[in-house]
Amino acid sequence: MYIEIGDRVSRVALIGTGFVGSSYAFALMNQGIVNELIMIDLNEDKAKGDVIDLNHGKAFTNNPTHIRFGTYNDCKNADLVVICAGANQKPGETRLDLVDKNLKIFKEIVEHVMASGFDGIFLVATNPVDILTYATWRYCGLPKERVIGSGTILDTARFRFSLGEYFNIAPSNVHAYIIGEHGDSELPVYSSAYIGSLPIMTFIERYDKYKKEDLDNIFINVRDAAYQIIKSKGATYYGIAMGLARITKAIFSNENSILTVSAHLDGQYGEDHVYIGVPAVLNRNGIREIIELKLNKDEQQLFQNSVNVLKSYLSPYFH
Ligand code: LAC
Repeated sequence: MYIEIGDRVSRVALIGTGFVGSSYAFALMNQGIVNELIMIDLNEDKAKGDVIDLNHGKAFTNNPTHIRFGTYNDCKNADLVVICAGANQKPGETRLDLVDKNLKIFKEIVEHVMASGFDGIFLVATNPVDILTYATWRYCGLPKERVIGSGTILDTARFRFSLGEYFNIAPSNVHAYIIGEHGDSELPVYSSAYIGSLPIMTFIERYDKYKKEDLDNIFINVRDAAYQIIKSKGATYYGIAMGLARITKAIFSNENSILTVSAHLDGQYGEDHVYIGVPAVLNRNGIREIIELKLNKDEQQLFQNSVNVLKSYLSPYFH
């Protein structure tokens, strides 16, 4: 039994300890974001093996992360349940191709979690993440602010990295978002993208060597990055795991940071009844508010298209 140190223990229950889940656990261990991580998987041997392996690294970190194997009952006292379980894309598959098989898995997972008496925050990573986050919200009955998907947090990170490489600027000084479906219909928001505090288009006009068509190619490579990585190594997991750790830190540190996660729209951007990647303010209570960017006409149309794509996949399952 974990000995509670002080009056507050930050506890995460992780469901699914495959490539993404175990990489997320590794990130949490190295960054010392939480006090306790409980690892849950149908494949108990794998989860128990990960627990032993990770705990053997504890001496190399100077943080008190306590990792142990657990079951759904352990979700009762968790502050955050992270779901990484489910089938992942095979070469040539889109994320949306996974909807049917993963929806079935999710209904059972969420029912087991809620049966434990869980009353915290859900963070969903399994694809198609926008659809499965919506499903989790419908299955669990918790307030929408406490059901979050990883959304386009990784796409935005890929975009900031790629733009940083192009302009030779640190990604931390590239302020640019990818919003929409975490998938083929996502879109870049160049109209509110900045290099430092300079609009990106002004930055391009200043130097002849930069071209707008280069930015278009950068976006295409970002949008299709997962296909490339899956072709090379069979799956993606480090980037998304670090994105999940970033969201976890924003929650437990009560940061009020803005991250592009999958959030429920209730009229924002003129849309509702959908989970989709948008900039949102995250803190200890989940999503504090959604940031409505001023989209230009093209961006509005692309965003609307992305909403419609997601709704077309939701409608056969949810009314
Ligand atoms: C990717 C997975 C997480 O984009 O969908 O790498």
